[in-house]
Amino acid sequence: MMKHVNAGIIGLGRAGQMHLRNLMTIPEINIIQVADVFIDKISGKLNDLGVTNQTTDYHELLSNPDIDTVFVFTSTDTHEQIVTDAANAGKNIFCEKPLSMSHDEEASLDVLRAVKKNNVKLQIGFNRRMDPQFRTIFENVREGKIGTPQMVKITSRDPDLLPHDLIQRIGGLLQDFTMHDFDMARYMMGSDISEVYAKGGTLIDPTLKDIDDVDTLALVLQFENGAFGVIDNSRRAVYGYDQRVEVFGSEGMLKAENVNNSTVELYNDKREELKKPLPMFQKRYKEAYTEEMKAFVDSILNDTPLVAQGSDVIMAQRVANAAKKSLDTGLPQKVNTKFSLD
Ligand SMILES: NC(=O)c1ccc[n+]([C@@H]2O[C@H](COP(=O)([O-])OP(=O)(O)OC[C@H]3O[C@@H](n4cnc5c(N)ncnc54)[C@H](O)[C@@H]3O)[C@@H](O)[C@H]2O)c1
Repeated sequence: MMKHVNAGIIGLGRAGQMHLRNLMTIPEINIIQVADVFIDKISGKLNDLGVTNQTTDYHELLSNPDIDTVFVFTSTDTHEQIVTDAANAGKNIFCEKPLSMSHDEEASLDVLRAVKKNNVKLQIGFNRRMDPQFRTIFENVREGKIGTPQMVKITSRDPDLLPHDLIQRIGGLLQDFTMHDFDMARYMMGSDISEVYAKGGTLIDPTLKDIDDVDTLALVLQFENGAFGVIDNSRRAVYGYDQRVEVFGSEGMLKAENVNNSTVELYNDKREELKKPLPMFQKRYKEAYTEEMKAFVDSILNDTPLVAQGSDVIMAQRVANAAKKSLDTGLPQKVNTKFSLD
């Protein structure tokens, strides 16, 4: 008989509704109950999907003995509390990145201590690790195809600005968006980021200054093993969701270009290319989002390794915090690469 994960889902906003649809395609997952403080707004949509056991109170879901695993897709400012409560209720947890909005990592470390004490699994939503293109680069780097990696270059640009109130709940450009790139850089290079220098500003929306955020960033990284990295971010690429990664080494280079929605090229007197990057994260990383969930289920049922765990999110948060300090001071910042829960 097929083994199952009996799941509760907390948070059904932009990310949560996308994940719900992907989770429903995985046969090993039974969705027992879902929770969102504004469940009334989406109740009809959920009923249409056949998800009828709904609540506004996530504690109800945590006290349900039929649920062994919870998926946390709430806004970032709630993650520490909800993950701690879920760990203390003995549930396995998948949580979206990051764990915290705070610049002080002690609270995040306490969350990881609760996870460890209760001996439950915690996977973090660094979905890009499971993107087939980036995964191919990762595997080729590990197989030595480009010799010793010396430089990673990441271009990561969103299609458009986010509302300020959403930014205040899920974090600004560094904490919410570049967070993925810090993790990707570290993952590709197989080494921790030990120093970061960030320059940035508001070239698109000057009112972002009112909430202490930027829309454009250029970052230089140094890794513990001596290698380097470059990240460029923008909140608005008018041509779509621009996601490219390159790793350069002593014996060559690997690079992944954008995934496009068309391979058609139009030849007229101008020669137009119809290729455009896929428009949004939900489409560009659809496979990655499903694969990260399948890997999490596999880890619960068969004890295989997690895609990204607590220490990975702490490392990315540290770099984001150091990068913020670099932006504020104009100086490069060292990053602590030692990790311990003791
Ligand atoms: N991995 C990715 O590619 C990716 C993409 C988008 C968002 N995210 C992450 O997902 C998280 C959610 O982001 P979003 O854009 O979906 O935000 P959102 O505001 O659209 O959705 C959050 C939802 O959580 C609900 N919520 C908040 N507090 C709650 C509580 N205490 N109990 C129950 N429900 C609660 C809200 O009502 C809302 O529906 C953030 O941490 C963000 O960084 C990750």
